[in-house]
Amino acid sequence: MTAGRAIVAQQQQAMKHKNILSVPLFLFPQVFGMVAPIVINTWPFTAATNAAYLQLISTADSDPIDAVVAGCSKAEELQVDYTVGWGGSPDENGETTLDALVMSGMDQNMGAVAGLRNIRNATKVARDVMQLTKHSILAGELATAFAVKEGYKFESLTSGYSKQLYEEWVSQNCTPNFWVNPSMVTCPLTGAEPSQQVFKDAQKPRFDAHNHDTIGQIALQGDGRMAVGLSSNGARHKIAGRVGDAPIPGAGAYVDDEVGACVATGDGDVMMRYSPGFLGVELMRGMTPQEAANEAVRRIALKNKVFSGAIVCLSNTGVHAGACQGFRGFSYSVQSEGATEEDVKIYQIQPLTPSPPDQRVLMESH
Ligand SMILES: *[C@@H]1O[C@H](CO)[C@@H](O)[C@H](O)[C@H]1NC(C)=O
Repeated sequence: MTAGRAIVAQQQQAMKHKNILSVPLFLFPQVFGMVAPIVINTWPFTAATNAAYLQLISTADSDPIDAVVAGCSKAEELQVDYTVGWGGSPDENGETTLDALVMSGMDQNMGAVAGLRNIRNATKVARDVMQLTKHSILAGELATAFAVKEGYKFESLTSGYSKQLYEEWVSQNCTPNFWVNPSMVTCPLTGAEPSQQVFKDAQKPRFDAHNHDTIGQIALQGDGRMAVGLSSNGARHKIAGRVGDAPIPGAGAYVDDEVGACVATGDGDVMMRYSPGFLGVELMRGMTPQEAANEAVRRIALKNKVFSGAIVCLSNTGVHAGACQGFRGFSYSVQSEGATEEDVKIYQIQPLTPSPPDQRVLMESH
């Protein structure tokens, strides 16, 4: 444990005693002991769901921030679908960089890292930004320097898999890519410009079920406190320096204990322009989580014919829902009882169009 983290641990210990001894319970009449702890996250990343849940229920007053950090860190460690953590989604130079965020529902205190290089523990560093500094986001190499100072290991984020992805991409004239004009594409090894046909193909939607970008996780503690966490290695073959929606508050995620939380996944470049996390939470002030999720996705779909994205929302009473567009299929994971990965339930979501909007179906008890 680093010096900074030791101080935070001491403060948390002190807070615990303070809570028990001096905060009158009548301050929380509507929530105290009224909610079953629950964790939900985008995609069937069930090991991450369970890791977060076990942390959440480890004590009745554990910080939900620590739950989402445990869950997202598990996803990073497992390199789920190679879309979270090190060793996936190489950029145009073949490098993997990480985006992550955590936010507390109590006071919207948050921390995030964007384009983090050479550090595998993106979500933990995001928590350090939240708990050790007054800033919200640290970026790039300077975020790396911060993490190294906090004791994290500086190491390559390239894996055999990401190296292979990169080399295959280069051998395909660096397509698909994220340039508007193919003449902008310079391939590092061949210098070749892709043909018009290759370029046209490259414009097809890129965020499919295997390039889907993000774990977004929500934890609701029994006393009503909530937190969100996100971790992503961004878009495969992104232009170096690209930051996705994951570390942007209100875009990839938002949480307010008074209402609930929403997390997003998918084509972050488009989605972040509509602040779907914030919008989903605001809509839940009057709508059900299902209505809010549908509307947040519908707003983006209205203006973007070709986009793939999903949003998952959880109210502060434990009601959850998801909505998606563009993906052939989207699912999210829920753990609210039991204590093993097998107890995590997976909910399958149908796209808003052409399918009817309210299509939440319990697919399997995984
Ligand atoms: C950082 O991440 C790596 C890879 O997931 C993991 O093996 C290591 O234990 C993590 N370090 C810390 C301090 O959590």
